[in-house]
Amino acid sequence: MKLTREQAAGRVMVALDYPDASAAERLIEELKGIPCYMKVGMQLFYAAGPSFVESLKKRGYYVFLDVKMHDIPNTVKGGSNSVTRLGVDMFNVHAAGGSAMMEAALEGVDQAVSVGGSKPTVIAVTQLTSTNLEVLNAQIGISGSVENAVLRYAQLAQAAGLHGVVASPSEVVAIKEVCGSAFQTVTPGIRPAGAALNDQSRIMTPGEAIKQGTDYMVIGRPITAAPDPRASLESIIEELISYE
Ligand code: C5P
Repeated sequence: MKLTREQAAGRVMVALDYPDASAAERLIEELKGIPCYMKVGMQLFYAAGPSFVESLKKRGYYVFLDVKMHDIPNTVKGGSNSVTRLGVDMFNVHAAGGSAMMEAALEGVDQAVSVGGSKPTVIAVTQLTSTNLEVLNAQIGISGSVENAVLRYAQLAQAAGLHGVVASPSEVVAIKEVCGSAFQTVTPGIRPAGAALNDQSRIMTPGEAIKQGTDYMVIGRPITAAPDPRASLESIIEELISYE
């Protein structure tokens, strides 16, 4: 099924990995009018804070707050309440925090929306894509393959009531097999053909990722560091529209 231009744009989460609001605003200005999702990570959120997120929401953007909460349940509940009140559309917690912590995140959401506002999608970080087999087995002490660890975390997140996970595009098919197609996947590690890899290793093009069933793709430097960010985003959107 072909995506409309608007649907395709809404599947792209532009990673606003900038040190302050004014640097991020320069990119936002260049992309003005394109209905993409904006991803605010810890670098920008710690610097520019809630007011920056609120201003994105006022301008009508979908916002994914990528702050990867990981703390005791009571603290995560409070954090979830706070970010829900900011009006974000999606935020995430670490599945490694366990079931009680993930359930507490959902309680924080419910508490916040009981006085108004809408419910954000809450997703779990499974294994960071920077975690290789050596880190998983020898450092963290989890045995088995990275994919097994990812699937286990995805099932734990689903059982806790979360709506999806962040994962590598190469794990999407297995996650959807185990958790069902409605369980959402958000995938970084996307590189259009010919783009620099930077520090990403296992990558897919936007077209390949969407064929795997990726719901949202997080894309940073191929857009933010491009000579013409708007043209780069437009060509990614075209690639998604033309996928069959
Ligand atoms: O510039 P690039 O496209 O590599 O940016 C990828 C974005 O996705 C960054 O904001 C990074 O923090 C995020 N991310 C990632 N790998 C993960 C989780 C998040 O690259 N496992």
